[in-house]
Amino acid sequence: MTTHIPKVELHCHFEGTISPDLMKRLAARNKMPVPENLIGSDGTYHWNTFIEFLGAYDRVSSVLKTKQDYRDIAYEYLIKSASEGCIYSELFTSPDHSAFVGIGYDEMNEGIAQGIDDAEKECGIIGRMIATCIRHLGPEAALRVAQLVVDYPHKYVVGFGMGGDEGQYEPHDFAPAFDLVFATGLPCTVHAGEVGGWQSVEDALDALPVTRIGHGVRSIENLEFLKRLKQEKIVLEVCPTSNLALGLYKNAEQHPLCALIEAGCKVTLSSDDPPFFHTSIGAEYARAQAEFGLDNAALLQLTRNAIDAAFVDVETKTKLWAQL
Ligand code: ADE
Ligand code: ZN
Repeated sequence: MTTHIPKVELHCHFEGTISPDLMKRLAARNKMPVPENLIGSDGTYHWNTFIEFLGAYDRVSSVLKTKQDYRDIAYEYLIKSASEGCIYSELFTSPDHSAFVGIGYDEMNEGIAQGIDDAEKECGIIGRMIATCIRHLGPEAALRVAQLVVDYPHKYVVGFGMGGDEGQYEPHDFAPAFDLVFATGLPCTVHAGEVGGWQSVEDALDALPVTRIGHGVRSIENLEFLKRLKQEKIVLEVCPTSNLALGLYKNAEQHPLCALIEAGCKVTLSSDDPPFFHTSIGAEYARAQAEFGLDNAALLQLTRNAIDAAFVDVETKTKLWAQL
């Protein structure tokens, strides 16, 4: 049992936390139909490939309509995470998805911040946001998101990042967006080494001011390159169940979680898009123990790595350290 182990999550997409049940409740409340071809006969989200997954994510995101929706999603996710022993969670927000449903950047932040405050009051869990752009929407859209982040700072927005289809564009195309935000003092992370190989991680490190990599698991394909990750103290936001669900690896034995830890990389554990992959932050820690063989001390070390690498201020980190 790992419930008693304090957990810290650094990689979780806001809309990716919406369960089919919550999605249906939001659609009904907003008098919208449940999107077609989204839920399979077993009641879970239906998709086959990575690209289909991204499409399903967009359809789930399309039922949001109000600031209250954003508040409720954040609140429900954080309360559930807290019940599994999570003490801190960084949520990847998507200003492009909110703009699509007519919610402005400020309004989205205010809604999510309300959910964060309500959850902290009730359970003590601390939540923060990382604003992300979407790679396949291209560099201009990314720059627009970066400009919003810079023009409308929010006390809970602690970083900047990028998700989406790693197969599109090159990291250096997004340097203007990342450099703009980084220059204001916000740290950055980027998805790489998930759909793309180790070279994609190297390209990201060469081009962008990032200290963390979303996934990065395919760095294992070049042992020389792992040395650079170690030297530069790059932290990997590893999401094992997501990687298995998206078919990167056939089973836990083939997944490089343990190999990356043994090689000396700074690894953290996250759930990515929990209901899409039938997981949760608690399930990730439990799986790391049951299927990857990590003992309690090793799991606690992953939490320590995550507090170290969190983008939140030192005072908040001190509160987190005190809970270990
Ligand atoms: N957006 C949501 N989940 C993602 C993932 N696993 N990779 C890239 N973009 C995403
Ligand atoms: Zn992700």
